[in-house]
Amino acid sequence: MPGLTVGDSIPNVEADSTIGHLKLHDYLGNDWGIIFSHPADFTPVCTTELGSIAKYLPEFEKRKVKLVGISNDSVDDHKAWIKDIEAFTPGVSISYPILGDPKGEITRNLNMLDPNEKDKTGKPLPSRALHFIGPDKTIKASIVYPGSTGRNFDEVIRCLDSLLLASQKKIATPANWKPGEPVLISPSVSDEDASKMFKSYDKVDLPSGKGYVRFTTDV
Ligand code: BEZ
Repeated sequence: MPGLTVGDSIPNVEADSTIGHLKLHDYLGNDWGIIFSHPADFTPVCTTELGSIAKYLPEFEKRKVKLVGISNDSVDDHKAWIKDIEAFTPGVSISYPILGDPKGEITRNLNMLDPNEKDKTGKPLPSRALHFIGPDKTIKASIVYPGSTGRNFDEVIRCLDSLLLASQKKIATPANWKPGEPVLISPSVSDEDASKMFKSYDKVDLPSGKGYVRFTTDV
């Protein structure tokens, strides 16, 4: 499934991990999940990222979201590297599982490889890919960065909050939206239905007169 993207089912990948053998679907159960790759163990940006994710664990737990990391390294390498991560970011515990994928088959199946970033033998390394997985085991959103750019986990949480809201109500979130700010009523909802679904909403008057920008705070 090399082109895996939004709307696709995430394969039920099975691998050894830092917390034991794991089957992705069983591990996630009925919860939301995030699977994220990093290029390689014992590399600087990855060391900052995995410690940073661990700092956000209470935020993920609050939202009942399970995390799974993966790279093309072995579980033994992950376990040795975790000591560095925990020393670099004092106070964190890397309690989320990191899958071992030395053959790079899982990262390839999950569309997480960067063809321009190669290991010493010329095999492609993972990008910084991150799939948000809904309880139905489909991909709800993905972000992909190259090895040289560490991810912003405030943005990961912000995206998650948007996805969780949009899974509950027929809304969408505008550019640069932050939790607590007004949201937009989905274009698929008629004005008549919007009046039934939301206590109130404001329609923005635009030159086209089409009335498609409708804000509500009723979420
Ligand atoms: C890093 O983690 O530092 C890194 C990994 C791959 C490419 C560039 C940087």
